[in-house]
Amino acid sequence: MTPPTAGTDAASIADHLVGVLDQMPDPSGGPAAGQLERDLAEAFGVPHAVAVSSGTAALHGALFACSIGPGDEVLVPALTVVMTVAPLAALGATPVFVDSDPNTLDIDYDDAARKVTSRTRAILPVHLWGRVGDPAALTAFAAAHDLVVIEDAAQAAGSTRAGQRAGTIGTVGCFSLKDGKILWSGEGGFLLTARRDLAEHAAAFRSHWQPAPPGQQPLSRLATNSRLAAPLAAIALANVHRFQDLLAWRQEQTRRLLHALEQARGLIALEPAADEQWNSFSPLLRVDLPGARAFTEHLAQQGVPNSTGSFRLVPCDTRPFAQPSRPCRGAAQILDHMLAVLITDRDTEATLDHYAAVITREATTWAA
Ligand SMILES: Cc1ncc(COP(=O)(O)O)c(C=O)c1O
Repeated sequence: MTPPTAGTDAASIADHLVGVLDQMPDPSGGPAAGQLERDLAEAFGVPHAVAVSSGTAALHGALFACSIGPGDEVLVPALTVVMTVAPLAALGATPVFVDSDPNTLDIDYDDAARKVTSRTRAILPVHLWGRVGDPAALTAFAAAHDLVVIEDAAQAAGSTRAGQRAGTIGTVGCFSLKDGKILWSGEGGFLLTARRDLAEHAAAFRSHWQPAPPGQQPLSRLATNSRLAAPLAAIALANVHRFQDLLAWRQEQTRRLLHALEQARGLIALEPAADEQWNSFSPLLRVDLPGARAFTEHLAQQGVPNSTGSFRLVPCDTRPFAQPSRPCRGAAQILDHMLAVLITDRDTEATLDHYAAVITREATTWAA
């Protein structure tokens, strides 16, 4: 298989871009973002999509549309990146970090239940590395505690669990289009929802409340500018049209790297759940070597980019901004032993084989 960036696919991106550039500067932003929203809604099988400037902006708009604000508490897995949490702080809400189960990577619902208070309004599951938790458990927990579900599906485009697409399980699903995502436009994001009112509020929020939702005056509330620029919408549109190819290529890339590492010392591939169709966002391996985190940092220095080693991904409840609570030991255990290799669709078979050779070599000689 070859990367889908080659040949006619690249030409298709260029065609979309040229079409948009011809219309610029168009103060309305042109038709690209509107078309992107229609095509995203169709591709994901939901009534409404709202395109925005980043995954962070998608979360911000979704939380705002769901009326999350000062004094509200939102349950968030500690097993996530800071970008999940920043929009909560911007809205004056409080993230309450919950633990994850090291065996499944899913939310630890016993811990979550302990952390529910009278102020808890929502749960924000994060499908990190494209892995999706059990939708039935999530839905039952949210119903039992009367919580809105806002999914951080930034890395999960194309994953499904129990037949449900990531980002369509909860009330709103939020995605990033940043480089490295399977569906990308350089920078960008979008949210999906079945509720027209939430889509209208998120759309107003991304553009200084103009157009305003039905029955409200334009510019009558303070919001943001988080519109997706037309050239980026054009790139996203071209990529939505070849999404299945991009997805198949990422799955092939991950399969190839994991296959090459089957015999590597101290590395065990993490399997998705039986009812999960994983987008294979990032090849995932549990590191069973002494000083596992130091090993991933060493691999990053050897040119193998990975979540923990390159970006020092640590549980969010250990970050300086977190309020003290019961420590999320499961999340720490997961991250301290995780090798999540970061790949993009430009990584060729030769690049992946090189990564496999470096990882195998370094694992063989590693003695922390
Ligand atoms: C899990 C997760 N949530 C949120 C974000 C934020 O997306 P963006 O970088 O597009 O703002 C990212 C981005 O990488 C992410 O991986």
